[in-house]
Amino acid sequence: MAEILVAKAADLKDGDRRLVKTARGEVGVFAHDGGYYAYANHCAHTNGPVCEGILIPRVLEVINEEKHYVGQIFSDDMHIVCPWHGWEYDLKTGVFAGDSKYRLKKYETVVRSGDVYVIV
Ligand code: FES
Repeated sequence: MAEILVAKAADLKDGDRRLVKTARGEVGVFAHDGGYYAYANHCAHTNGPVCEGILIPRVLEVINEEKHYVGQIFSDDMHIVCPWHGWEYDLKTGVFAGDSKYRLKKYETVVRSGDVYVIV
């Protein structure tokens, strides 16, 4: 395994991302909620550049006490949306929102001496 420098932690603020080239291919590293989440830049659908997609809050459907649909709200969970066909993945787990058998290849990250590294 190798540790690849991503950025100084001070330069990678909440909501930021970096794409880094590694021996295993391009990896997207996201800063979110005080943590860092890293994924191979290959969508589980047909290998689109998922880490270049927008981040949006997960949409939840609201059902009232009578079991009637009353609308939609945004949750606190964030999703990465693949730019090719719109598959959405949980930013913290990499799991596809439509079917949990699909997920992004996840990599660990580490912060050392103020620098963020991805381990590939
Ligand atoms: S390649 Fe990502 S949604 Fe199709």
